[in-house]
Amino acid sequence: MPYPFAQEPPPVSNVPERPLLESVHRPVLLDAVREWLAPAAGMILVDGTVGAGGHTAALAPMVLPGGRVLALDRDPRMLDLAAARLAHLPVELIHAPYSQIGDELQKRQIEQADRILLDLGFSSDQLAWTDRGFSFARDDLLDMRFDPDEPIDTAADLVNSLDERQLADIFYQFGEERYARRIARALVWSREHDGPIQTTGRLAEIVRRSVRGPRSRIDPATRVFQALRIAVNDELAHLDRFLAHVADWLAPGGRGAIISFHSLEDRRVKQAFRDQPALNVLTRKPITASEAEIQSNPRSRSAKLRVAERWKRPKDGTRPGTNPTR
Ligand SMILES: C[S@@+](CC[C@H](N)C(=O)[O-])C[C@H]1O[C@@H](n2cnc3c(N)ncnc32)[C@H](O)[C@@H]1O
Repeated sequence: MPYPFAQEPPPVSNVPERPLLESVHRPVLLDAVREWLAPAAGMILVDGTVGAGGHTAALAPMVLPGGRVLALDRDPRMLDLAAARLAHLPVELIHAPYSQIGDELQKRQIEQADRILLDLGFSSDQLAWTDRGFSFARDDLLDMRFDPDEPIDTAADLVNSLDERQLADIFYQFGEERYARRIARALVWSREHDGPIQTTGRLAEIVRRSVRGPRSRIDPATRVFQALRIAVNDELAHLDRFLAHVADWLAPGGRGAIISFHSLEDRRVKQAFRDQPALNVLTRKPITASEAEIQSNPRSRSAKLRVAERWKRPKDGTRPGTNPTR
């Protein structure tokens, strides 16, 4: 569904009022993204996960004027934040998943993009909202959909309907949780004895109780919440679809940059970039945050940036892909 230009307010009819919020999210690896993506005037830039617009605000002026910026997000409320942040820039905000970048380019008669950025996962803003259920630090409703209007199962639906084995598989596959079976058993026992699990607080408490053992650096609920969020939003399927098509969506010499936050995503990005003959991997090793950035923005601790360039057709005898700018 196209989202209006940032300068125009969204239509108010039939749209439930959304709280006007200030963004608390800080973009990660911003300098590295600027340097490795190297957008230049006149280019077509696509931010597939615009969030509150932190990266786009920095990158868009590098391609404008003359260029064009498309910015997608699956979460309509994030697009509201982006619209406020980017109101001074002619950025086209689009309510669509990044797995559909190809369709969005086509709708606008754009053949290919010069630069595509993905900053995966969820933002600090979504974590802070009490009606989404991403955080186990409070007792919120267990939803976890990026788009609350999408007719997909919420985290509460999954936790209360799947059997023990299905839940364990989700925790193991998407959370790499070694106590997956034990946790799934505890959840099923709890919902049978104490009624449906509807809140983040109760879920987190059941997880913590079921894996009680030597103290670990991270809250035992972390991996289970990550796993449920990935399952609810089918996140890896979106990433796989993107990775299968990104080389076609990029113009020759175009670059794709992906920031991931856990090994399930990073492994896929690394492999897909490496295995695609049309792509030249520019980052031999993933770019990570400096100690200074981690100090000032702890969220950047697990961020990994990988960048690939679509080979140029050799026109002038130079080896394709060796020129850093297009
Ligand atoms: C880490 S935040 C992006 C932050 C942004 N780079 C910034 O600087 O403000 C990730 C964003 O991706 C969005 N998202 C998650 N999955 C998506 C998908 N499949 N398609 C589009 N957006 C998605 C989330 O709603 C969230 O707003």
